[in-house]
Amino acid sequence: MKIRVDLNLNAKDNGYDILIDSGIVSGGYNKETAAVLSSSGLNLKGRALVITCKTVNGLYGNAVSSFLKNYGADDFAVMVLPDGEATKSLGYLSDIHDRLVENRFERSDFIIAFGGGVIGDIAGFAAATYLRGINFIQVPTTLLADVDSSVGGKTGIDHPKGKNLIGAFYQPKAVLIDVDLLKTLDKRELINGFAEVIKYGAVLDAGFFAYLEKGYEKVLSYDKDALTHIIERSCSIKAEVVKEDEKEAGLRSVLNFGHSLGHAVETLYNYESVKHGEAIAIGMVFAAALSKKIGLCSEETVKRIGNLIKNSGLPSDIPGFTPEQYINAMKLDKKVSEKQIKFVLVKDIGKYEFRKLDFDFILSFLKESSLNENRK
Ligand code: NAD
Ligand code: GLY
Repeated sequence: MKIRVDLNLNAKDNGYDILIDSGIVSGGYNKETAAVLSSSGLNLKGRALVITCKTVNGLYGNAVSSFLKNYGADDFAVMVLPDGEATKSLGYLSDIHDRLVENRFERSDFIIAFGGGVIGDIAGFAAATYLRGINFIQVPTTLLADVDSSVGGKTGIDHPKGKNLIGAFYQPKAVLIDVDLLKTLDKRELINGFAEVIKYGAVLDAGFFAYLEKGYEKVLSYDKDALTHIIERSCSIKAEVVKEDEKEAGLRSVLNFGHSLGHAVETLYNYESVKHGEAIAIGMVFAAALSKKIGLCSEETVKRIGNLIKNSGLPSDIPGFTPEQYINAMKLDKKVSEKQIKFVLVKDIGKYEFRKLDFDFILSFLKESSLNENRK
C-alpha cells in the first residue's frame, strides 16, 4: 500500500510517499519501490550514508547494501551506532556530523535512516542540521518506527534533563516500510510498538480500537497480514494528522496521548529499563483515569483502554517514584507553563479533548489515584 503524506505547503516537493509492503529491502528489485524512490527527489547517483545500529546491521547489513545497488545507488557508506536510547545523544550526533564533514558530503547527497526510532530520530536530525539540511529517507525496522517515528518529520536527540528536548521538524523524502523486517524483532519490542498503535485507536479511531481488541493476539504472534493492516491504518491516521498540522500547532498534539506522564517515566528511569511504548502505555492508562476524574469519560472507556494495554503485555502501573518527582519531570516537557500542562484526554474511545490542567491538580490526583496502590 502507498500512502501520501501531503504537507499542503503549496510547494512543489510538498509531501512524500510511505510505501508499506513485504520484501522492500530483502526481496530484490521491485517496480513500486523504484517508482517511490524516483519520485522522492533523492539523487540516487549521489553519495549515501546509511546510518544504522549494531543489531540491524548484523541482521540486514548485506540486505540493505544489495537493496541500494538494486536501485542504482552504488556510492554509499554505512555508519553503525550502538543499540539503545543512549545513542540519541549530542556525542553520537557529533560523530555523524564528523563523518559527513570528513567525507565531504554535499547537499545533493543523502542519508538513509535504517533502524528503529532511535536511529530514525538521530539520523533525521543529522540530515536536518548538516549543511542546513540534506535529503534523507526513513527505512524503519521496528513496529514503533513503522507506525509512528518514521512518519511526520519529528527528529532529534535527548538532553540529560529531558527527552527529545533538542530537535527539528524535518521531513524525509520517502518512508519505505518492509513488514518482513519485523520477523526478527524481539517480542518485547513488538509489544512496545503496539502501544503507539493502541494510541491511534484510543483517541482517533473507535473502529480501529475495536479491531485491536479482537485482533491483538494475531498481531503479537507476528501474523503478517495483521501487522500489515495495523501499520497501514496507523500510517494513514498519522498522515492525516500531519497533513493538518505539520508543526504541532494544534491537532498534532493528540498524538501525545499518554506522553506527558510517559515522558516523565522515561526521564525518571534515565531512559534505561523502560521503553518508550511501555512508558506511554502507563501514561495512557493515567490519562484515561484523569479523564474520568474530571468527568470527561466513562469507567467503561478507562477499562477498555486499560484492558487492551494489559492484555497486550504492556505495563499499566505507575512506577514507584514520588508524585513530586513526576511533576518535576513533567515540568521539563515541551508545552508547559510554570503552573499548567496541556493534557490530551479521552472523551470516549476514538475521541479526544485537550485540557490545560494545573500541576497542583495532577499532583493531588497522583497522590490519591488508586493507580498508586500498585506502587513498588
Ligand atoms: P530502538 O530504535 O531502540 O529499537 C529497539 C531495539 O530493536 C534496538 O535494540 C534495535 O537494535 C532492535 N532492532 C531494530 N530493528 C530490529 C529488527 N528488525 N530485528 C531485530 N532487532 C531490531 O527503539 P524504537 O522503539 O524503535 O524507538 C524508540 C525511539 O523512538 C525513542 O527514542 C522515541 O523517543 C522515538 N520516537 C520518536 C517518534 C517521532 O515521531 N520521531 C515517535 C515515537 C517514538
Ligand atoms: N509521535 C508523535 C508525533 O509524531 O507527533
